[in-house]
Amino acid sequence: MENNVDFLIIGSGIAGLTYAIKVADKGSVCIVTKSSINDASTVYAQGGIASVTYKPDSFDKHIHDTLDAGQYLNDKEIVNMVIKEGPQQVQNLIRWGAQFDKSKSGKYYLHKEGGHSEKRVLHHKDNTGEEIQKTLIRQVKAHPNISIYEYHFAIDLITQHHLGKLVKRKHTDTECYGAYVFDKRNNTIHTMLAKITLLATGGCGNVYQSTTNPPVITGDGIAMAYRAKGKIKNMEFVQFHPTAFYNPKETPSFLITEAIRGSGAVIRDVRGNTFLEKHDSRGSLAPRDIVARAIDKKMKEQGSDHVYLDATTINEATFREKFPNIFKKCKSHGINPVTDYIPVVPSAHYLCGGVAVNKNGESFIHRLYAAGETAHTGLHGANRLASNSLLEAVIFADKAAKHGLSQISELQWGKNIPPWNDEGTTPAEEMVLITQSWKETQEIMTNYVGIVRSELRLKRALDRLEIIYRENEALYKKSNLTVRICELRNLINVGYIIIKMAQSRIESI
Ligand code: FAD
Ligand code: SIN
Repeated sequence: MENNVDFLIIGSGIAGLTYAIKVADKGSVCIVTKSSINDASTVYAQGGIASVTYKPDSFDKHIHDTLDAGQYLNDKEIVNMVIKEGPQQVQNLIRWGAQFDKSKSGKYYLHKEGGHSEKRVLHHKDNTGEEIQKTLIRQVKAHPNISIYEYHFAIDLITQHHLGKLVKRKHTDTECYGAYVFDKRNNTIHTMLAKITLLATGGCGNVYQSTTNPPVITGDGIAMAYRAKGKIKNMEFVQFHPTAFYNPKETPSFLITEAIRGSGAVIRDVRGNTFLEKHDSRGSLAPRDIVARAIDKKMKEQGSDHVYLDATTINEATFREKFPNIFKKCKSHGINPVTDYIPVVPSAHYLCGGVAVNKNGESFIHRLYAAGETAHTGLHGANRLASNSLLEAVIFADKAAKHGLSQISELQWGKNIPPWNDEGTTPAEEMVLITQSWKETQEIMTNYVGIVRSELRLKRALDRLEIIYRENEALYKKSNLTVRICELRNLINVGYIIIKMAQSRIESI
């Protein structure tokens, strides 16, 4: 493994891969990813990527919908920038080979999703993310300057703390020299030094019991930045997707894309009645925080475990053509989605907050950038507009790449960085301690810090999580490193930040 590179990228989803392609002509690039390169939320993205394409859509309308969904807690300058630069970055994906569906006339065939006032979601069937990921992987594998290290887990960022220097609590004093990376297959820990490091580790869905995110998504980047004294923002804004397929035994929860509602499907309660129109004039196509809260309320009122998605107004040929994977999934559970109602339930889906970055993707730690779901850019506010996430990831990968390239010639590698210190640790004998704390963390977050919150629930959650935190820190310090114990540590850190931020922002309760 190369130990000194210009650009170290942690994570191989849309953000990390796009950034790699953009900087690779000008320096050595190393991508570390904790599982296979294809294991990322990006691969699961169904609905598509939102970008203004044809009239009557306009930047103003997309900006308005983004602000409205985000309850105007967005950063307006960032919203303007992302929406206006969207079409150019989408073209870039197309140039690299991503194929989005077109109608017979040759025009892009656009979906509509919750909170959108126009059809503007470019997509590839119901597996847009897979199409994009495949395209990006092809590009990074073809580039001679990019090295890919699969099954390499980033444990912690390297900063002055590791040089034994005392760092004041101010984020701006801290500098990132790379990361300690655990090679899972060879059980060794590398000191990866980089002039610039990009965090692209995705969100934190697995802090909850039910999530649409794959198991690799455990908030690692955010927890690493937090421990390195970076600035973290808006973590209380966790987005629950209203329509995950109801199957409590399945991890991750299978998503039923909002684009089906955009094609005419509606949500019904277990008695078969519609109810969303009582909450918002847009009914089943209101922004997802409104829909998820209304479903949660209805399920509690009726004591039901799920509600239904009624897609019976869509004819079979259209359904099969537009949503082939969802059709196959429903059929595998004995449900014909065009004649039967599909049982659905809200599931933790997306993190609107994360590592705070400026408009260049720079975090508050020098030489550390963040992009994609790990980052808080200001685009989403309190709730992300559907299909704005892939868009944000490509825009900020581009911004971070441009800014990094303008800085790289001035930067040197960190000196005298000590290797990872695991003195005095012994093999963790009782895996049950980790498994149990993992379950308890998810239970606490689900029961007390879910869709509906209260001051009392948050206080309970914090009290209980603090006990688990202390137990796990003690275990972490004395045990040989494993990915599982590191991930648990990250989940606990992230859970703690979500609770603390929810407590300090009353409107999110
Ligand atoms: P990810 O794609 O999640 O990649 C994170 C990477 O980091 C992974 O490779 C992971 O293995 C790696 N990693 C994590 N921790 C470590 C570590 N410690 N060390 C090394 N590697 C690490 N958004 C849209 O805009 N449109 C959609 O239609 C859409 N549909 C979605 C459907 C589903 C089911 C899901 C789950 C999400 C969907 N989203 C959608 C959201 C969107 O897919 C994600 O926000 C986006 O793909 C995140 O990209 P990313 O590059 O930031 O992270
Ligand atoms: C979906 O297809 O419903 C998910 C879209 C998103 O998360 O943006």
